[in-house]
Amino acid sequence: MRAVFATGSAPREPLSVLSVGEVPEGPLEALPSGWARVRVAVAGLNHHDIWTLRGISSRPIAYPAVLGCDAAGWVESYGGSPDGPSEGQPAIGTRVVVHAVVSCGECDGCRRKERCARMALLSEGNLRGTLGERVDVPVANLIPLPSGVSFDAAACLPTAYLTAFHMLFEAGGLRPGQSVLIHGGHGGVAVAARTLAALCGAHVIVTSRTEAHLPSTGGGAELSGGGLLPPADGVVLDGDAVGKIFALTGGRGIDLVVETVGDATWELSLKVVRTGGSIVVSGATTGSNPGAGLNRIFWKEIRVQGVTMGSLAQLETLVQLVAEHRLNPLVAGRFQMEDAAGAFACLLEGRQPGKVLVEVAPGEAGL
Ligand SMILES: NC(=O)c1ccc[n+]([C@@H]2O[C@H](COP(=O)([O-])OP(=O)(O)OC[C@H]3O[C@@H](n4cnc5c(N)ncnc54)[C@H](OP(=O)(O)O)[C@@H]3O)[C@@H](O)[C@H]2O)c1
Ligand SMILES: [Zn+2]
Repeated sequence: MRAVFATGSAPREPLSVLSVGEVPEGPLEALPSGWARVRVAVAGLNHHDIWTLRGISSRPIAYPAVLGCDAAGWVESYGGSPDGPSEGQPAIGTRVVVHAVVSCGECDGCRRKERCARMALLSEGNLRGTLGERVDVPVANLIPLPSGVSFDAAACLPTAYLTAFHMLFEAGGLRPGQSVLIHGGHGGVAVAARTLAALCGAHVIVTSRTEAHLPSTGGGAELSGGGLLPPADGVVLDGDAVGKIFALTGGRGIDLVVETVGDATWELSLKVVRTGGSIVVSGATTGSNPGAGLNRIFWKEIRVQGVTMGSLAQLETLVQLVAEHRLNPLVAGRFQMEDAAGAFACLLEGRQPGKVLVEVAPGEAGL
């Protein structure tokens, strides 16, 4: 099958090991019972794919390594049941979105139906990624799509929106009227968090290295690529950022910081979070070892919470929000699989806010 994959690792020049071409496909007979093969319509890119290209992964990487965590498509077949789905399984041809978190099913966490201690994401270890014509996933990871939910919208959800949802509401306990500081400008998680936080009625402040990646100053919603980005305040990450953020919160400080940038923003996060406030961390794009600032953490009684991805139930909630027209994920760019290099450049440059999508089944990916 055709796929977008890493041919090796390149810590400094990740795009130099990006390739598009044929990769061997596992035989259908080898697909275990309890697993489904999904024909991919639209896949989404994440910074996770950049980590894989750089050679950084939770597990040893087997090359060629098919990239991608996010996919929406059609159920094509089931393992161990050549005659079709068993009871309760979506029919062949059902439109689905795929939950990218694959649990081991055996650890204590799995037995308690909590977070798996040995979970892997699609594209990690021996799991194929979603940036190919087909992807194999546990049947439990399939979520059928209501008819009003497009493949484009669905393919935005499984990583960035799911992580942002988990960070804001379950880990961060965000409530209407609270202030939330979101680092990462036009990035996938940042735009998802900005969109979801605004939906809940929070006061949203976004930071970026550059003015060009901040919300426009007019205060109105911005339209881009077919979605709507709600208004927010913007602060450039420079020497004045602390003062500006306190001014925007009436001197009180931030209730909840959404931290994905790491080394470059951690100190700022600790300084501007209010006494008794929270920092939720799910990423460290610029490095994972900033000064811990323990004195600020205990003096201000800051709660620091880590998050990785989110649950199937949370992803179902996001699908429902799209179906109810309350959520319309913003798309930064839409590319053909053959132009994977263009798609990855779009992700890395971040000129447009939102998710970068790859049309894997051209012409068939409409509603
Ligand atoms: N734990 C999880 O489950 C999980 C899930 C999703 C993502 N993540 C992690 O979260 C991070 C963001 O993911 P993503 O997919 O949203 O990435 P992305 O789309 O590439 O966005 C990253 C953003 O970080 C900002 N940034 C980059 N370098 C920076 C620097 N030196 N200083 C300040 N800001 C900088 C950029 O904003 P500006 O250019 O505007 O400054 C960029 O838009 C990644 O590290 C990813 O691995 C983790
Ligand atoms: Zn487990």
